[in-house]
Amino acid sequence: MYKPIIIVLAMLFLSCKDNGQEYQAETFELPSIPDQIVLTWQQDPSTTLTITWRTEKPMEESFLSYSESSSAAAGNWTKKEAESFTFEQTSSWFHTVELTQLIPDTEYHVVIEHPVLPEQFFFRTIPAERNQRELVFLAGGDSRTRRDVRREVNRLAALQDPDFVVFAGDFIDSPLNEEEWNEWFDDWHELLITGDGRRIPIVPAIGNHEVAGGFLQPRSKAPFFYNRFVTPEPRNYYTLEFGPDLVIITLDSDHTKEVSQQNQWLDNTLHSQADKKWKILQYHVTAWPSSRSFDEEIPVKIRENWVPIFEKHNVNLVVEGHDHAFKKTVPIRNNMEDKTGVIYIGDGAWGAPLREVKNPENIWWLDEALSADHFWKITLSKDGEDLKVEPVFRPLVKAFMLQAESSEAL
Ligand SMILES: [Fe+2]
Repeated sequence: MYKPIIIVLAMLFLSCKDNGQEYQAETFELPSIPDQIVLTWQQDPSTTLTITWRTEKPMEESFLSYSESSSAAAGNWTKKEAESFTFEQTSSWFHTVELTQLIPDTEYHVVIEHPVLPEQFFFRTIPAERNQRELVFLAGGDSRTRRDVRREVNRLAALQDPDFVVFAGDFIDSPLNEEEWNEWFDDWHELLITGDGRRIPIVPAIGNHEVAGGFLQPRSKAPFFYNRFVTPEPRNYYTLEFGPDLVIITLDSDHTKEVSQQNQWLDNTLHSQADKKWKILQYHVTAWPSSRSFDEEIPVKIRENWVPIFEKHNVNLVVEGHDHAFKKTVPIRNNMEDKTGVIYIGDGAWGAPLREVKNPENIWWLDEALSADHFWKITLSKDGEDLKVEPVFRPLVKAFMLQAESSEAL
């Protein structure tokens, strides 16, 4: 269970006399400590970043300071006040700041201010031009109920030193359970940070477990998702461009927006992104299941509505979830294997209970399928020409430490 931390400083001068004056006991409470930091984008990842954090209580003022890392020591810091808010289903307060006009491919230090326990970290903006450096990002989803596994996968994710994580929904199990959300954000805050203190942004998609009722609900039924991940409008589906060669489009697979209602937007967006060499999509429910039935309503809807649009615009890769397994499809076009087609990866196994998979030998759309915890690591080459897509599996056998015996003990 999440345990609140309250620090109370007490200064007691009981019956203490100085020059005949008597001091009274004085107690004051420090403001809540900032925690559960999450980084997202609402605009260009080369020049902006949105930072959101939590406090248990409302704050009189809430702000952060940031500085380009190279000039932080010289004291060139900018202070920015947060927008603070809460919502009906939580007892906490949230504070969000969007940093803009940042320099591409640059490290920034951040201090979330607090009189005793300020939170410090750094982040890195995305290159705006090619030939700067490789871009590494991870793709996965479905972290729901096996918290110990989720934490292991989180650690494994940070070890890849990624620029960001694409997460295809089903973060927790019960959409309105604040304790589960607190655990999820505690784990993210603690573990999605590199060894040298760089926090890793997330590009989130909505899943059925974020929404009370799961499917075809208004956004108000997913208060934790919409309040805690600040993303581009209209929030349930959105686009982010990462430099000149990569676009990542997030869709809502029938949770708070009906599949077919996104067709026109998707077609227009992909048309306007035609110059991008790499077009990647993510959404939650898989169109090409590794475990569940091919004939379920939403997979059928996605194959009828979105898949022809993906194929029309030559989408390269689609990240799916919901089936809690590892899968890679063959390239698909016109409902058959076609080497010019779209490859789909998934199916969300970042801590959710694993499901048995279909045998790829009997299923035409599956190239590989395994019941295994994992995420995908995707590397865009420096020149933007190559995209390497490789799975990273949670080791099934835990490593153990061998400790060298001292010479006296031998
Ligand atoms: Fe799901």
